[in-house]
Amino acid sequence: MRKTIVAGNWKMNGTTESNKALLENLTAGLNAVDGLVTLVCPPAVYLAQVKQQLGNAPVAVGAQNVSAQPKGAFTGEWSLAMLQDLGCEYVIIGHSERRSIFGETDNQVAEKVAATLDAKLIPVLCVGETLEEREAGETINVVSNQVEAVLARVGIAALANAVIAYEPVWAIGTGLTATPQQAQDVHKAIRAQLAASDDSVAENMSILYGGSMNAVNAAELLAQQDIDGGLIGGASLKADEFLTICAAAA
Ligand code: G3H
Repeated sequence: MRKTIVAGNWKMNGTTESNKALLENLTAGLNAVDGLVTLVCPPAVYLAQVKQQLGNAPVAVGAQNVSAQPKGAFTGEWSLAMLQDLGCEYVIIGHSERRSIFGETDNQVAEKVAATLDAKLIPVLCVGETLEEREAGETINVVSNQVEAVLARVGIAALANAVIAYEPVWAIGTGLTATPQQAQDVHKAIRAQLAASDDSVAENMSILYGGSMNAVNAAELLAQQDIDGGLIGGASLKADEFLTICAAAA
């Protein structure tokens, strides 16, 4: 059964005080809906605060990144065991900002996804093309290669326990959104790629859209057949807007 997931990627934003207020407003307005997962992914330094404040609220918690290494001399990193220790369930992996600013390669992304699956956390694998790649007609190739790098590493059966987020790089934080049809076309292609290995994994895979999704455009995007939720950046920092997106997904 395919889950609908509305995930807030807070990126490098927030303070103890602002997180507290955001979560209070979020939990006050959130209605638990069967089949809908609401997820927040704060900066790692606030994961414990967020997890503690949420208590039994129907909101899952995820990290924005993780090391593929189990422990040791990796200054500035954190491990899957640490995320397990805090009660995190999800990890965003291969976000375009990690790929473009921090130079994460397809191989590193694949290793992180593999380690996350081994640890029984749920990777949210991000894929997406740049504007130049879209204009060159390379969108499906680029996205398919990013998915294939992970598929080749973990195999289709393990990938059944992952989530995929399609995020066109040109739409992230720019106010430009893929049209519902543009997004649907890529989501459909990702599902077809998975179906070539396993129909059931393809059918059950939650594929989220990310890139300037907001309270105004969410309903139309989420109405597309192969769009199973959103990975929301800027709009996830405003409780009202995030709740409107959750309601549109329910
Ligand atoms: O992870 C979230 C995406 O990068 C989208 O960010 O909603 O601010 O465009 P955005």
